[in-house]
Amino acid sequence: MTQSAADPASPAFAARRADARQALDAIDPAKGGDANPADPVRRAWFEAVYALADEDPARVPWANLAPHPLTKAWISLQARGICGLRALDVGCGLGDNAECFSAAGAKVTAFDLVDEAIRWAKRRFPSTEVDYRAADLFALPEGWRQSFDLVHECYTLQALSTALLPQALAALASMLAPGGKLLLIARARDEGADMEGPPWPLPPSIFAEAERQGLRALAIEDIAATPQVGRRHWRALLGRVNDV
Ligand SMILES: C[S@@+](CC[C@H](N)C(=O)[O-])C[C@H]1O[C@@H](n2cnc3c(N)ncnc32)[C@H](O)[C@@H]1O
Repeated sequence: MTQSAADPASPAFAARRADARQALDAIDPAKGGDANPADPVRRAWFEAVYALADEDPARVPWANLAPHPLTKAWISLQARGICGLRALDVGCGLGDNAECFSAAGAKVTAFDLVDEAIRWAKRRFPSTEVDYRAADLFALPEGWRQSFDLVHECYTLQALSTALLPQALAALASMLAPGGKLLLIARARDEGADMEGPPWPLPPSIFAEAERQGLRALAIEDIAATPQVGRRHWRALLGRVNDV
């Protein structure tokens, strides 16, 4: 592949992504509805995404080979910095967000449901200091309980069926150390608005559900679509309900 075809800004990359989206939608049992009860976590589909991509990131719909602009901007805004914080990236995909936290000095663990995503992230960043692991948000390693100062989730909650959100939020809460914070980045929608999905943009009631699961919103930004992020988003910081 030429260097320009591998550039996410190139028309060739965009064309391969459009093809891949069509092919992946066609095999997504949740498209236009909800998750398949036999595979509520959608493991089979996520595995198919990375396998069918055959090492072409254009064929992974969320892989832009750069940290999310809202994550990157948040990191750069931290007056006290994040150097030395124990950070966890949830559903890390090809690793760009995890690497951004690591470059800012955090001690980063990053995990994904799919083994191939983790192998691919390691291939992309051979000298990385990030501890990449294959793991499932719904079956977390015991040693991660209350172990992170900062948990980052970008676009993973919105990839889950609505029925799994309470359990997913509880799992995120369980990994925060006392005083720890969750940074959540997701597409936003009005309460009750139609949604085709996946992804399923999150309504405002996600924050009431988060509170029921042990996470209090400390700051919620409702960010209108811009040329940079394309659609309306939430960027929210949440802490543990039990912290004073
Ligand atoms: C929409 S992608 C977002 C990837 C990355 N966070 C980003 O912003 O580019 C969601 C990712 O979450 C992973 N994932 C889905 N369900 C998961 C689960 N139960 N546990 C861990 N990772 C999961 C998928 O394999 C996929 O890589």
